Amino acid sequence: MTARDTRLEPYWMPFTANRAFKQAPRMLVAAKDMHYSTDDGRQILDGTSGLWCVNAGHCRPRIVEAIQKQVATMDYAPAFQMGHPDAFRLAERLAAMAPGDLDHVFYCNSGSEGVDTALKIALAYHRARGEGHRNVLIGRERGYHGAGFGGISVGGIPANRKVYGNMLFRVDHLAHTHNLKENAFSRGQPAWGAHLADELEARIVPLHDASNIAAVIVEPLAGSTGVLVPPKGYLERLRQICDKYGLLLIFDEVITGFGRTGPCFTADAVGVVPDMMIIAKGLTNGTVPMGAVIARRDIYETVVNNAPPGMVELFHGYTYSGHPLATAAALASLDTFEEEGLFQRGQELAPYFEQAVQSLREMPNVIDVRNMGLVAGIELESRPGAPTARAFETFLKCYEKGVLIRTTGDIIAMSPPLIISKAQIDELVGTLADALREVGRNG
Ligand SMILES: Cc1ncc(COP(=O)(O)O)c(C=O)c1O
Repeated sequence: MTARDTRLEPYWMPFTANRAFKQAPRMLVAAKDMHYSTDDGRQILDGTSGLWCVNAGHCRPRIVEAIQKQVATMDYAPAFQMGHPDAFRLAERLAAMAPGDLDHVFYCNSGSEGVDTALKIALAYHRARGEGHRNVLIGRERGYHGAGFGGISVGGIPANRKVYGNMLFRVDHLAHTHNLKENAFSRGQPAWGAHLADELEARIVPLHDASNIAAVIVEPLAGSTGVLVPPKGYLERLRQICDKYGLLLIFDEVITGFGRTGPCFTADAVGVVPDMMIIAKGLTNGTVPMGAVIARRDIYETVVNNAPPGMVELFHGYTYSGHPLATAAALASLDTFEEEGLFQRGQELAPYFEQAVQSLREMPNVIDVRNMGLVAGIELESRPGAPTARAFETFLKCYEKGVLIRTTGDIIAMSPPLIISKAQIDELVGTLADALREVGRNG
């Protein structure tokens, strides 16, 4: 083992090929606005907002200062039977930003915890209504809902099932909406596919009986499994069916929240109000871990008003729910989004971004390009016998050339900060095009 191996070895890295990484590490040591700096002094253009979270760009002064000030004032406050004003202020702001009567906010520390929280609230809600038998949870194939047992159960990623099984046993899944034959190279929401929502009514409701189903959880735009943009009318149809049978509809907006697909939430972009929305990532601009579930008023009131007076109504919470550093970071992030009009800016840039990414269809091995707002997926034909290799090689080439992209299977995802300039969009897409050409030469 080299000295470097010794230093790197103790850290068991998440969702990472540990052995390969430790042979050839990629180390980031600083970040500012659109760029990371590496330990060998290079600048890397961030085409992925970190992990889909740094929507306002890196190390924004207002957010940094708010966190610094907060940690020096009150580092921690107990989350149970105690409060601090910023937790209430933030909830009020999020309630005002969320669509419809989504106006009660439950805090957690990540998207995964947000998913668990929303699923538990769904069960608690039905029980409070006297329908505790509604405990079947419906997810979707190719859904990613984080790494907890609740999330991997309602999620639809085969690798999770292979290793961990399906820990929640009262679950079922809708088919995913990805279809290259019908929708390849769609710009924005594809026209084909709304009818896929009908499976909920045609198969799932009759199989489980509506009286047993608690909730349906979907990402309005599936990110982690390869940027699957919702077909026009699909989410609307899910909403109608859920209403008809009394099922709660949960949108996991962990990556789509805070301007990624246009307006603040994808719920706003498609005009569908879910019963609960899970947020995280962009909420604090990636600075301090935080997630939240925003629930409809009726859900809160049903759970709370059905408990005996003076008793804890929802038996759930985390030591760091509404952590003071996270609430300070979130309030400052919302200020930054608002003052700089970043959601508006993202929407204005979206057509330029679309034009740029769609030009990649000319590159070798590209079999689809899809986009919505400031997110794009570029799907490559897999190398025979070596799935994922082509995309990962492209990722490494881009990194060498000073650009950060992300890959999942043989799909490349880009989700840059909303502060990106047109010149930086050109650089991001131009570098990716060069990398695809070079990788194409290798077969
Ligand atoms: C849609 C969605 N839900 C949940 C999560 C999990 O979030 P976290 O990694 O913060 O637990 C992610 C993470 O990428 C996500 O994309």
